[in-house]
Amino acid sequence: MLTLGIESSCDDTAAAVVKDDFTLLASVLTSQDNIHTRFGGVVPELASRSHLESIVPVVNSALAEAGVTLGDIDLIAATQGPGLIGSLLVGFSYAKALSYVTKIPCVGVDHMAGHILSVFLAEEHPQFPFVALVVSGGTSSIYLAENFTSFTLLGRTRDDAAGEAFDKVAKLLGFPYPGGPIVSRTATNGDSAAISFPRSWLEKDSLDFSFSGLKTSVLNHCNREKQKNNELHLPDICASFQEAACDVLVQKTISAAKSQRVRSVVMGGGVSANPRLREMMDEHCRREKLHLFIPDPVYCTDNGAMIAVAGIQAFKKRPDCSLNRDVYCRSVLA
Ligand code: KG4
Repeated sequence: MLTLGIESSCDDTAAAVVKDDFTLLASVLTSQDNIHTRFGGVVPELASRSHLESIVPVVNSALAEAGVTLGDIDLIAATQGPGLIGSLLVGFSYAKALSYVTKIPCVGVDHMAGHILSVFLAEEHPQFPFVALVVSGGTSSIYLAENFTSFTLLGRTRDDAAGEAFDKVAKLLGFPYPGGPIVSRTATNGDSAAISFPRSWLEKDSLDFSFSGLKTSVLNHCNREKQKNNELHLPDICASFQEAACDVLVQKTISAAKSQRVRSVVMGGGVSANPRLREMMDEHCRREKLHLFIPDPVYCTDNGAMIAVAGIQAFKKRPDCSLNRDVYCRSVLA
């Protein structure tokens, strides 16, 4: 069985071909970073227009790279939501149009399910049930994954997503968009204990997150230093901010795993490419005798392969391929 996965929820146009359940034959992605950098963030209208230009070449490249034609494809899976509506509409409408013309069934995929299941693209797979932390530019959520299609939301951010906090801190430090990876690279030369930034634990036992206070603390620190005419030590600021953000993400995920009595922890989403988060999660999981599964960094950020993987499982569970479905901006996983 060959599945074509299509992803266009934000600012990456991506397509992939997956054989059977998890065998990746090709994955192609076009990033729009060069379009949005000068605005310091994603401009939704420009994102949709760019998806329109890229969708056909990206899908064709994925098919060519896999050495197949559209006629060989058995299933089309496309991101239905959550994300930017204009961006989602391009990929999902294209998938539905392909399905209408070719009669290949088409399933809609929740982007969060894609991030949770992206770990199955690696050789070693976690056993269900497991706890999954999904951290990206649009979300910071903890799920209990009971099987390939059943996910329970245990906690989520009440304000900024972790990736959003990384990007906003990057912006206030003068780094170009998307700044998360630059903050992480700058942090490698800094002292993570140099500045004591706050950790927001919220109520006892809460698995929700809040990153807006941490972001404001970084801003206040920078303003104070500037008032004293001190030069900002960017590596220390980045390392201390990153430590505070990762500390909360890791500790809450471990608490969730312990309270749900699972043996495995999974991470997905763009921020899970962060080396310090991967290292800290690994240390804590070893200490608690939990098995940790994290996708290759390439499959942490948005990609078509994870959409194909989640689409295959959704299709097996409920082959609902009606073309009347529409995109949505909030995740349906709850
Ligand atoms: O999953 P993703 O590609 O797109 C969304 O669905 O949001 O995640 C992108 C986010 C951005 O906020 C980016 O700054 C962040 O992931 N990110 C990182 C790193 N790599 C990507 N944040 C911190 N450290 C990184 N190494």
